[in-house]
Amino acid sequence: MARFFFGSSSLRGCDDCDVRTAILPAMEHGFFISFEGGEGTGKTTQIRRLAAHLESLGRTVVLTREPGGTPVAEAARAVLLDPALEPLGLSELFLLEAARHDHVERVIVPALDRGEVVLCDRYADSSTVYQGMVRGIGVERVEELNDLATGGRDPDLTLILDLDPEAGVTRARSRNATGDGSESRLDDEPAEFHRRVRDGFLHLAVLHPDRIRVVDASGDPDTVFPRLLAELPEEFR
Ligand code: TYD
Repeated sequence: MARFFFGSSSLRGCDDCDVRTAILPAMEHGFFISFEGGEGTGKTTQIRRLAAHLESLGRTVVLTREPGGTPVAEAARAVLLDPALEPLGLSELFLLEAARHDHVERVIVPALDRGEVVLCDRYADSSTVYQGMVRGIGVERVEELNDLATGGRDPDLTLILDLDPEAGVTRARSRNATGDGSESRLDDEPAEFHRRVRDGFLHLAVLHPDRIRVVDASGDPDTVFPRLLAELPEEFR
């Protein structure tokens, strides 16, 4: 079974770093992968596939999502995605960060400490792009709140599924047409919104080439999955 060791950047604050590296020099940690991208890029399909693939390699996988993943965060999700509520921009951000903090502390960190692989459908980069760039709250402000909410716990790897926004929104709308409509608020945004989301993610990928990889999400799921696998560490392919 593959073993992974985090560098100090993945530990939770400098005071902790010294103590933990001194006492537990060879402690086993998990691996944290976030999936990002616009609506309908196929994240959910691909993340499930990757979970099955990693389990077939003998890894223990925690598959989770944002906003969500704990009862507190799922309650925030219901508010965030309800078309009837429309929280104001900052309220939306605080709800997302509150959900994120609960999720990181209760699900993500414990799973990584157990040495498991965490696959998260959206994470802090979504707030940087949707709230920071597109809603105009500002990247620096949002990144500060992201750090506070996550304790600086960045993913080891972020995969951005990149797709022409028109194709993505068509996919998302046909998915919502089969649901009850309670999670459709952001899918109903105009085309310009989705173009800015795509540009935002691509910009983040340029800023963080060490952590973020862009995967071409056009084509059917069988075509996309090998592209995604090619971006993973050797041990996960
Ligand atoms: P979801 O149904 O999970 O969308 P998708 O399948 O596209 O991931 O809804 C999540 C929505 O919330 C999505 O439109 C993006 C938005 N969102 C933000 O605006 N900021 C965030 O920080 C997160 C995590 C999500």
